[in-house]
Amino acid sequence: MSRGPRRPRSVLEVNRVHLMDALEGLKALPDESVDLVITDPPYNIAKKGNKTILKGKRISTMEAWGAWDHYHPYDYDAMMMRVIGECWRILKPRGALYMFTAPQDNGVFVRHAVARGFTFRSQVAMVKKTALPSIFRSAWRSAFEVAFYATKGAAKSFNFLEQAEMVNVYHYPTNHKHTAHPTEKPQELIERFVRVSSKPGDLILDPFMGSGTTAVAAKKHGRRFIGFERSPDYLAMAEKRLKELDHPATTAE
Ligand SMILES: C[S@@+](CC[C@H](N)C(=O)[O-])C[C@H]1O[C@@H](n2cnc3c(N)ncnc32)[C@H](O)[C@@H]1O
Repeated sequence: MSRGPRRPRSVLEVNRVHLMDALEGLKALPDESVDLVITDPPYNIAKKGNKTILKGKRISTMEAWGAWDHYHPYDYDAMMMRVIGECWRILKPRGALYMFTAPQDNGVFVRHAVARGFTFRSQVAMVKKTALPSIFRSAWRSAFEVAFYATKGAAKSFNFLEQAEMVNVYHYPTNHKHTAHPTEKPQELIERFVRVSSKPGDLILDPFMGSGTTAVAAKKHGRRFIGFERSPDYLAMAEKRLKELDHPATTAE
């Protein structure tokens, strides 16, 4: 299959989160320029009619997560298939991809990634200690999310950590958050992906950066990063977190 002309060098600055659509940002990245992708895309599960409880109040999942998590199913599938294809293009040979997914999409996205050429390696489950209550008692309470891990050929970085850190089930209390982003991922888990699947100086991409967890994890461990986020409010959260790494807040005792 012809790969078409190589994309020219990117004009996008690294070590920055750009206020951009994920696909537009991805398209601006050159072929084989990124060492590792870690991403937590919208799950497309927010709906006006579905209810959840947040801070003791019964609200729609659309209000709880935000309109950013709502796509027409056809548009969502089309976007995610293109995102996976672009991740394949911009990853260096033997680079790696970690992608969180909604339960109904995990198998579909893995199969699509494999069809693009990725090698499926494993899944990592993130178990929440404080699952949201089931309002109508008509469904199982959701207490875990899953990311899949795939590589472009044999993994070029796989730094095996302590045995306990390499178990593919991660437990965390959901109240350990750094920002008001409704779906902030646990920084410790993202740091683990960074430590295992990259080395200092590598370039790490997150096309759906949210509050900047991937960028913070990359910067903290001496990796470079680049990312995209469509919401100015979430971008501001990411920038604040990144600044705080340079000047950590101190508390008077
Ligand atoms: C699940 S959240 C990511 C949360 C992130 N992992 C964190 O720890 O904060 C997905 C993010 O993607 C953003 N988003 C949704 N559609 C997008 C698009 N087409 N391009 C760029 N960002 C988008 C949303 O605003 C949201 O912040």
